[in-house]
Formats: sequence, C-alpha cells, structure tokens
Amino acid sequence: PPTIRQLFAAPVPTDPTEITVNGWIKSVRRQKRMSFAVLADGTTDDGLQAVFSDPTLDLDSLTTGASVRLEGALVGSPGARQDRELQVRSFSVVGQCDPESYPIQRKELSTEFLRTLPHLRTRTQAHAHIIRERDRLMRGFHSYFETNGFYHIHTPALTQNDCEGGGEAFALAAPAPDMFGHPAYLTVSAQLHLEAMAAALPRVYTLSPAFRAESSATSRHLSEFWMLEAELAFADSLEDIMALTEGCVRAVLPKASDTDPSPWPRITYAQAVDALAAAHPQVKFEYEPRHGDPLRSDHERWLAEVWANDRPVFVTSYPAAHKPFYMLPNDDGTDTVACFDLLIPRVGELAGGSLREHRLDRLQDAMKRHGVNERGELEWYLDLRRWGSTPHGGFGLGFERLVAFVTGTESVKECVPFPRWAGRWLM
Ligand code: 4AD
Ligand code: MG
Repeated sequence: PPTIRQLFAAPVPTDPTEITVNGWIKSVRRQKRMSFAVLADGTTDDGLQAVFSDPTLDLDSLTTGASVRLEGALVGSPGARQDRELQVRSFSVVGQCDPESYPIQRKELSTEFLRTLPHLRTRTQAHAHIIRERDRLMRGFHSYFETNGFYHIHTPALTQNDCEGGGEAFALAAPAPDMFGHPAYLTVSAQLHLEAMAAALPRVYTLSPAFRAESSATSRHLSEFWMLEAELAFADSLEDIMALTEGCVRAVLPKASDTDPSPWPRITYAQAVDALAAAHPQVKFEYEPRHGDPLRSDHERWLAEVWANDRPVFVTSYPAAHKPFYMLPNDDGTDTVACFDLLIPRVGELAGGSLREHRLDRLQDAMKRHGVNERGELEWYLDLRRWGSTPHGGFGLGFERLVAFVTGTESVKECVPFPRWAGRWLM
C-alpha cells in the first residue's frame, strides 16, 4: 500500500479510487450517522481523513493510537480542511491501543513530558517532522559531498586521545584499560583520524557520533551527538575551509531560510569583541565582552542575529590560548590561530574549523606546551607530518544544532530520537 505522503503527492482523484492504506489512528470523532478518523503514518505532516458511513461497521476498537489497515475509495473531499478523504468500506485493527493507558493522546503534550517518552514521542506529528528533517539534512550532506569529490569515512568510536583537550572524554571502565594497554575513551571528535585519511584521499568527511561528558545540560549540548566533519588536504587558506563549510550548509538549508546569495560575513574575533563592547551595556549580555575572554552563547547569538542582521557569520582568528594544540598559528604576531566558529541565529555556535599545524617540529612544540602526547598516544599523528605532510584543514558541525535551526526547535534534545544528557538517562 502507498504511504500517506505518496497518496498526497498524487493529484486529487476525479473518480473514486480504490485503495488500501496502513497507519495509526490520531483521532476519532463519532457522530450519529457518520464517524471520522484521522490516519497518519509519519511520512508527512498531513493526516488522511477517513470517513465511516456504513452503519454495520463496528468502530469500538478504532481508538487513538491503534494501528490499522483501511480499505475504501479515495475521493475529493467536500470539507474545507482537506482536499481528499477516504470513504472506508472495510478496515482491520492490526494492533489495539487502550485509550485509558496510552500517553500520546491528541491533546497538547508538553515537550518536557514527551522527553520522558522518547520511544513514543515520534508518534506526534511535530516530532515525526523533526526526525524527517534530520533524514533530509543527512541525505543533503551526503549528496553535497559526493558531488564535490569527497569520500565518506567511518572513523572509530574508541580512541586513546581527547582530541579537543577539553577533558570531556568519557573514559571506558575496566576491563577496557587493560584491553588496550592505554586508557581508552569514547571519541570527542573524528578529526585526528580524518586527518590521517585526508593524507591519503585528499577530501574526506564523516557524519558520526561524538561523545562528551558535558556537565552543562543546555539547549545546545548533548552527551552523545552527531558531528559532520570534513578535512581537506592542500588547503591554501582558512577561506578554503570556510567556503566548504558555507557551501555544504547552504546546500541543505531550505531555500526560504537563505534568500540572500551574498557570502556570509567573516569577521575576526577582535572585531567581534569590539562590536560586542560597543553594544554593551545597552544590550544586556550576561558577561561583559572583553578582549581575551571566550565568546559566550548570548554574545554569539547577538553577533548572528543583530550584527549580521539575522544571518550566519564566521568569526575567525581566536586567541591561541582558547584553542586546542593542533591549530595553525597566524603568523602576524597576534597570538591568534587560523580558525573560525560559524555562528547562527537562535543557536550560536554551529560549527568550528581551522587550518592544522602541518609542520612536524612546530606540532611537537605545541604538543609539549599543551601537555599532549605525554604517553606517546599520538605518535601516529606525528607520522602524518613526518611523511608527505600537506597544509590542510577542516571543520566540525553539530548536526543536532543544525536540525534545531532548520526546524525552529528550541533544544537539541528534540533533534535526535534518543537524546542523552547529564542528569537524565532514559532507555
Ligand atoms: O567546536 P568543536 O568542539 O570542534 C571539534 O571537535 C573539532 N575537532 C571539529 C573539527 O574541526 N573536525 O565541535 C564541533 C561542533 C560545535 O561547533 C558544536 O556545534 C558541536 O560540534 N558540539 C556539540 N553539539 C551537541 N552537544 C555537544 N555537547 C557538542 N559539543 C560540540
Ligand atoms: Mg567549538
């Protein structure tokens, strides 16, 4: 049988058309001579109106949440709210649903309440919509990168390094430490492994899970999230990496949300702090913007929403002191690195990227300063600079943050089917 999306994709039938359709009952309205039900199957925002006018049909088991198979005639609808409806001739209940105990009734359910039922919440039309958008964005990225000559790489979840050096890596409990002869962690970023691949296949990317023991349970943070990461060998400048980031995000954004074809603005961290400081204190930021301090999330949102006039904005050249060991220093004497954050309205930081230090001796120095590779766990990473090194760079983008932006969703917790975050563990 067709999905409801397929049914709605076809023109309204001029003559009654016999069909069979599967789905779940979203609501039932019983009247004296006729009853109505809305049937949905998650494939589209719309439900199919089903009309029951045969008095011999027993509708008792037709309850909200029941899975059913309906057969009848699809016809143009006289109703104002739908253009077609199904006049049901016969139906069978595939799986009953007790209306007394079923928690997903049609009445408005709060986001908070639905979070306690991640295994059931996608049965709401609103959540099904988010999950479909997630799928669409994923496919959009794969298509963009394929078109642009990138190879998709499967990178490991188990590692021996904390790529970002933020101390947020989940350590594996025994027996894993003995198993590998080194402490083992869940990966916080695929970047280092992608760099190895980019030294062999020059354009690579991955869309894979990343794990961070974030103590902050904010609307933008998850303990397990998906990251889109790309790495480009022979990159001449940071602009190459920003153009790639902008290109792939624009390729998947709905047309309506990205109507201005001019490139997204690029400003330096120093210029951004100047702009923030000039807006302060008329704009009440939680922290006063100061040179040398990290940008806070309300700073980031202001830069995209106000300074960039509700557009994404790249902020480049952050102080080296804020950033991990692998970033390429700028050679202008400013103690900044060749990096960017991509900031977007309502969300703040969507992506971060940089050129990587590709010179062996400089990288060894940087590792010493950052206390990285003390147990030799990144000797393999140094090998990449020993043999056939190239200037290169890449970025990582928080996939749930993009889903939140595109769907207008408040929190990333709604943007992955089974969210994990500090303080809450659910199935
Ligand atoms: O800025 P981050 O930490 O950068 C990296 O991990 C680089 N190694 C990426 C690279 O260059 N290949 O993380 C990248 C993005 C952030 O901009 C943010 O959107 C997202 O990942 N992110 C999170 N999303 C949800 N929950 C969390 N706890 C996140 N931490 C980072
Ligand atoms: Mg970042």
